[in-house]
Amino acid sequence: MLNKHERIEKSATLLFILSFIVVTIGGLVEIAPLFYVKNTIEKVKGMRPYTPLELAGRNVYIREGCYLCHSQMIRPFRDEVERYGHYSLAAESMYDHPFQWGSKRTGPDLARVGKRYSDKWHVQHLKNPQSVVPESVMPRYAFLADTDVRTDDAALHLKTNVQVGVPYTKEMIENATKDMLAQATPDSDDEDALRKRYPKVQIRDFDGNPKRVTEMDALVAYLQMLGTLVDFKDYKAEDNLR
Ligand code: HEC
Repeated sequence: MLNKHERIEKSATLLFILSFIVVTIGGLVEIAPLFYVKNTIEKVKGMRPYTPLELAGRNVYIREGCYLCHSQMIRPFRDEVERYGHYSLAAESMYDHPFQWGSKRTGPDLARVGKRYSDKWHVQHLKNPQSVVPESVMPRYAFLADTDVRTDDAALHLKTNVQVGVPYTKEMIENATKDMLAQATPDSDDEDALRKRYPKVQIRDFDGNPKRVTEMDALVAYLQMLGTLVDFKDYKAEDNLR
């Protein structure tokens, strides 16, 4: 047996063919079932695509490199669950392109930061982190409050997400800019339509400046939504096992 192995080792062609067969079998065994298993990504109640304003905030988050210091993935370990809340579900990242998982945490995980602090706290913290957490090494992002969020390309961002499988409807795309402005403008005429399209949407002036819709509005709207869509009071993992 062992001296036959010598033949394989001495012939590049034979080695290649046999390695290929072995890797193919391994690949089939590991990958193929994922296409047939129903709950590779379990369906979870409450998940919806991001609102146009949240999506703009997410784009700011990615542009500014917040992910270099913050993960959005709570692992199912006791210390993490006690600190951050219920461990992250795959379904909670299903509309994330690209996803924001990670293992590098210079700052805390943000997967469930939504509604944990007030908008005012976030704005103050983003403008000058050391003013609320003196030992913080987080950089300042005060300029976000002085930069109007781009509204003209909102529909295009939704359309791009449709390309990668996010189920935005035609109606959502047509109303993207209107929805973006409505989320940061309480009591506007478009509020009801926005609520219908995006359940659990939080509508208010996020950055403390009602005259403008800024990138700060968008980023805080995004942060305040994180981890709040799934209601864990009535979530049971067993319900998703079939
Ligand atoms: C250089 C690393 C670094 C970068 C980049 C960074 N942060 Fe932080 N962040 C931290 C650290 C460290 C803390 C903990 C201390 C504090 O609260 O400031 C923190 C805390 C936070 C908190 C409070 C979390 C909690 O649970 O208390 C939020 C929210 C936050 N960051 C958002 C952001 C956003 C949004 C961005 C991008 C615009 C960003 N961070 C970029 C390092 C960073």
